[in-house]
Amino acid sequence: MKENIINRAISVLDANFQEGGFTIPSKGLYPFQWKWDSGFIAVGLAHYNTDHAKKEIETLLNAQWDNGFIPHIVFHTDDDSYFPGHDFHRSDLHPLSSKQYKSTGMTQPPVTGFILQDMLNIVDDKEDMLNFIKGQIDKVYDNHVYFYENRDPQNEGLVYIYHNWESGTDNSPVWDDIWDTMNPPEYTFERKDTTHVDASERPSKREYDHYLYIIDIAKQNNYDDTKIAELSPFLVQDPLFNAMLIKSNQALIELYGMIGGNDDKIAYLRKNQEKSIASFNKKLWNTELGAYVHYDLRNEKPIRHISSSSFSPLFAAIPSKERAEVLVHTMMERFGGDDKYLCASFDPTDDRFDPRKYWRGPVWINMNWMLYRGLKDYGYQEIAERVKNDSIELIERDGFFEYFDCRKDTGKETRKGYGGDNFSWSAALIIDLLKD
Ligand code: DGY
Repeated sequence: MKENIINRAISVLDANFQEGGFTIPSKGLYPFQWKWDSGFIAVGLAHYNTDHAKKEIETLLNAQWDNGFIPHIVFHTDDDSYFPGHDFHRSDLHPLSSKQYKSTGMTQPPVTGFILQDMLNIVDDKEDMLNFIKGQIDKVYDNHVYFYENRDPQNEGLVYIYHNWESGTDNSPVWDDIWDTMNPPEYTFERKDTTHVDASERPSKREYDHYLYIIDIAKQNNYDDTKIAELSPFLVQDPLFNAMLIKSNQALIELYGMIGGNDDKIAYLRKNQEKSIASFNKKLWNTELGAYVHYDLRNEKPIRHISSSSFSPLFAAIPSKERAEVLVHTMMERFGGDDKYLCASFDPTDDRFDPRKYWRGPVWINMNWMLYRGLKDYGYQEIAERVKNDSIELIERDGFFEYFDCRKDTGKETRKGYGGDNFSWSAALIIDLLKD
């Protein structure tokens, strides 16, 4: 069984690997290179094709801007089957954007640091991989410096995102609170995603109006960070995004330690790491809910809803043991019933929960992969195994879908897999889970 899934996963990844040296997340729906997808994909590739794994990261980092920014989508081709494409995003408006690659002017969770360390842990030829890392690590470091110097207006060690697409959890019900504060114009545009996937599984037209409007504000200001911090109606400190930064900081500190001779960089990372973890625990923890939550920096208030992002700090060693206990208890109480697969992307006890709609409820394999590792690190072996086995069962049952209904009993609807099929990170991370 295990070998069979791994072989099928390899076929998915190989079919999605492109001539340009990167992997598309899913044919049709996502035809370019996405930042956090690339990271998770490289973990899977490292298990069987080191050259492709290295190429994946190299290609992404080649598109870095001169200010250290790494964009969320790199448009390697002129494919017009995706909206909004490069002609909408117009990364050329920023004076320091890449001259060689068209991209978006927003980013995605900073996974690349810990991915480099994972790649090193996975491969047999450590020397070869460490050499590769030596050639790439400063770009990831520069990306972290970019975040701390440009995305932390109150100097707290917590960086903001200015768009829901930067969070990776695109249409999470968490953002509904922000949409309530906005009234964007009605845009006229042709959706492409709903020609690939049923509209009931994707964000609504009105949600897209909000998404486009925020980009328009950023574009009117040539993607200037200071202006965005001043003007964007969406300005959020996201626990998932900041946990990824903290996890990657730690990886960079350890990798630089192995490489040697980078004391100033290690000192910079350490200083920020300490501040980030302290602020994270102080500002993003919600005692009443017993969970980490998002903070709306524009309107200066916490967003009181629990999502799978609330548990991601376990992966980055952020909570104390005592706090981890509370967090896991909250998770099991709300998300962990016997009638459910772990772990829904949004609180199943919340009115906004929707089991089939993208980030409004379904199980995602990348979130489960991080949760599995976090739970294991904190000693929750049994729950960790359940997260792993649930992930494998869902994939074995329906295939390498983008996301899955978390309910065990779905009535007449027997299918659980939704969104894009042959989805790369579902394949990549199942390989890693099965090899663990
Ligand atoms: C999409 O188009 O839905 C992407 O997830 C944006 O990153």
